Amino acid sequence: MSPWSWFLLPTLRLLPASAAPPRGAPASANCKLKPQQSELNSFLWTIKRDPPSYFFGTTHVPYTRVWHFIPDNSKEAFQQSSIVYFELDLTDPSTISALTSCQMLPRGENLQDVLPRDIYCRLKRHLEYVKLMMPSWMTPDQHGKGLYADYLFDAIAGNWEQKRPVWVMLMVNSLTEVDIKSRGVPVLDLYLAQEAERLRKQTGTVEKVEEQCHPLNGLNFSQVIFALNQTILQQESLRAGSLQIPYTTKDLIKHYNCGDLSSIIFSHDSSQVPSFINATLPPQERVTAQEIDSYFCRELIYKRNERMGKWVKALLEEFPDKGFFFAFGARHFMGNNTVLDVLRREGYERGDRKPAVTARLLCRLGSGSARPGSSGTGSWVCRVPTVAAPRVSAQKC
Ligand SMILES: *[C@@H]1O[C@H](CO)[C@@H](O)[C@H](O)[C@H]1NC(C)=O
Ligand SMILES: *[C@@H]1O[C@H](CO)[C@@H](O)[C@H](O)[C@H]1NC(C)=O
Ligand SMILES: *[C@@H]1O[C@H](CO)[C@@H](O)[C@H](O)[C@H]1NC(C)=O
Ligand SMILES: *[C@@H]1O[C@H](CO)[C@@H](O)[C@H](O)[C@H]1NC(C)=O
Repeated sequence: MSPWSWFLLPTLRLLPASAAPPRGAPASANCKLKPQQSELNSFLWTIKRDPPSYFFGTTHVPYTRVWHFIPDNSKEAFQQSSIVYFELDLTDPSTISALTSCQMLPRGENLQDVLPRDIYCRLKRHLEYVKLMMPSWMTPDQHGKGLYADYLFDAIAGNWEQKRPVWVMLMVNSLTEVDIKSRGVPVLDLYLAQEAERLRKQTGTVEKVEEQCHPLNGLNFSQVIFALNQTILQQESLRAGSLQIPYTTKDLIKHYNCGDLSSIIFSHDSSQVPSFINATLPPQERVTAQEIDSYFCRELIYKRNERMGKWVKALLEEFPDKGFFFAFGARHFMGNNTVLDVLRREGYERGDRKPAVTARLLCRLGSGSARPGSSGTGSWVCRVPTVAAPRVSAQKC
């Protein structure tokens, strides 16, 4: 599944995650820096209180590809927490229908009337190509699960002419051979939600569908056309064999399994949209690409982090004696203005706030752990993991 296509996945929640991935699968992610699974960094942060609460950075890729590499501390934290919070409840049919309707053009409108003729025709051609190729892209495993090309194409792209262009753009991105092959297995966040349900944990969400959906619909017309044009151009080059897509699901999985925070890829993961910044673009188009990137960054990361952080804070304060596990896209914990930053700013650094919430600095648990700092203000520092963690570089987003 393409990292930015997860909005489209709910239409495909037909296959529940029943079995855990096979035990004893290879525990090597082929990481350059950290060959041992035990030395990998987790995407787990803790809030020191009693019982502790946690933040866990998820990713929107098939869980079977990452589960083995998730350190035990993260799995234990999940097991121990009685309440699990997600961005959205992807197991709830009303979430799915709200996501679906948010993607549709106003009633009576059709993409053909909306798009420039050239774009519409190229789009149509490309989708015909995808439909033709799809049976050959699918795996025996998918057939074994009752997943067939016709069904899959209809589920993902069946009503494309009624969709808003920005959603068609995301849809086209997710209709590649690699992504089609990964359909049918729940993505990590959905898997956790299903597990939480199975283990009868109390669950909740910190967002409404509109908060994820409306920002995408807020891109203006010329920006959307630019994005769609670039996406189709990319797919056309891919078809012609002249392009390597720079950030693929495979790369994303590898970086996630390696605990690689600094990877630029993540800036395009939970923002759910591809970057159009491309070195070969002429200057004017580069400006447009940059504007779109900043827009998504602001609307899909910073603003949401702000709301999510405040919501988390309210929950922690309302239920001081509960152990929470907050599972949000990893991107919400990385770069600047993260959910963690919002919490710090909201007073979680100060010891005089709420006695129940003694967390100061939120530590990232690698193989290291948190220990009291020497500042005397009750702040905590994170022990450096056995292998130096990659520095979280200041990302443009
Ligand atoms: C879209 O937004 C960009 C950047 O804010 C702006 O330069 C452009 O004029 C807008 N286009 C339309 C059609 O509103
Ligand atoms: C699509 O992009 C190409 C290359 O940047 C450009 O030449 C063409 O005019 C664009 N088409 C539309 C309809 O914007
Ligand atoms: C960069 O843009 C050019 C022109 O629009 C396009 O042909 C090329 O495929 C793009 N490259 C990538 C990696 O998107
Ligand atoms: C994020 O950090 C970088 C580097 O410190 C800075 O240049 C950028 O303005 C910051 N972004 C925001 C939105 O604060």
